[in-house]
Amino acid sequence: MYPEPDPQADLQADADVDSTYAESEITDTESLRSWILAYRIENNRTYHVYGQHDYWGANDAEALEHMEIGHALFTKTFGGQLFLAPTDANPLNILDIGTGTGSWAMDVADQFPSAIVIGTDLSPSQPSWVPPNCKFQIDDCEADFCWQENKFDYIHIRGLHGTIRDWPRLYQQCLRVLRPGGYIEQAEYSATFTSEDGTIPPDGGIAAWNKVGIECHQKLGTELQVLETMASKMRSAGFESVTETSFKWPIGRWPKNPALKDLGTLAYHFVDTGAENWTLRLLTSVLGWAPEEVYLLCANLRKDLRTKKIHAIQQMRVVYARKPQL
Ligand SMILES: C[S@@+](CC[C@H](N)C(=O)[O-])C[C@H]1O[C@@H](n2cnc3c(N)ncnc32)[C@H](O)[C@@H]1O
Repeated sequence: MYPEPDPQADLQADADVDSTYAESEITDTESLRSWILAYRIENNRTYHVYGQHDYWGANDAEALEHMEIGHALFTKTFGGQLFLAPTDANPLNILDIGTGTGSWAMDVADQFPSAIVIGTDLSPSQPSWVPPNCKFQIDDCEADFCWQENKFDYIHIRGLHGTIRDWPRLYQQCLRVLRPGGYIEQAEYSATFTSEDGTIPPDGGIAAWNKVGIECHQKLGTELQVLETMASKMRSAGFESVTETSFKWPIGRWPKNPALKDLGTLAYHFVDTGAENWTLRLLTSVLGWAPEEVYLLCANLRKDLRTKKIHAIQQMRVVYARKPQL
């Protein structure tokens, strides 16, 4: 069993230390063509080709493993729940934007067998054998939505930071296709690491990591720390009852509390498998780094995070909000 979610848990250090790709609902979405399934190889990693912008993350086996660890990490953080919004007991239509491996969408489809769950992504990273009420579509959420107005009871977004050029537009599109009273929910984690006891050395691998991501996204024009702005942007888009919950992921086995020690172990693996995925494409293409420089940055980050005396934390936030009733 997962522990009950406790966003305020005290972070004390341990002294000891088949039907996968659905045809589009209406005719102006792309049907499944071979080029949509193609991929691009850069620095021995593979990337999507579909969509109007280059997304920073890879779509190879390593990237999928990282996303699976992320799914386990989020679910464990929420005490085994898949989302936090107080949705209907029997939602009919659910949308997962940027579904990745599709694990969240498939788990939700199992939880609500009478709902249709649609997962969309730029990459065809989802399995073929899926619950019959779960469908996947290759779709760019930055393009115009083709869904009919008021269709969905619930829309889920997780881990799209540093990706979307125009968040207000995405939220407005979500607002239009949600039914009145339906919920949007978004979970995002910070791209930087902090500590509550000043144990992150100012000149080490974590400090170097913290600087470079911000610089890169400033140059690219994408927002990296989406967790800090998503609530206000949802409010501005017209959502009501905007509810924000903050969580802390300890990174590594340093916490004293056994449940947090477990969570920290999973969070470390999430970073370990994600570090290169988060940086390789961006730093080589936007800042002109050599791949070897990126590998070194990631190695130094991992080294710091494995150091018992360093008590690093990653912030994670969830915001859910309701479409007003007519
Ligand atoms: C960090 S992963 C998170 C995957 C999944 N939501 C999860 O939490 O496991 C982000 C996903 O969003 C997808 N993505 C990025 N930009 C997108 C866009 N414009 N439209 C649709 N999907 C997008 C990526 O292909 C990737 O699979």
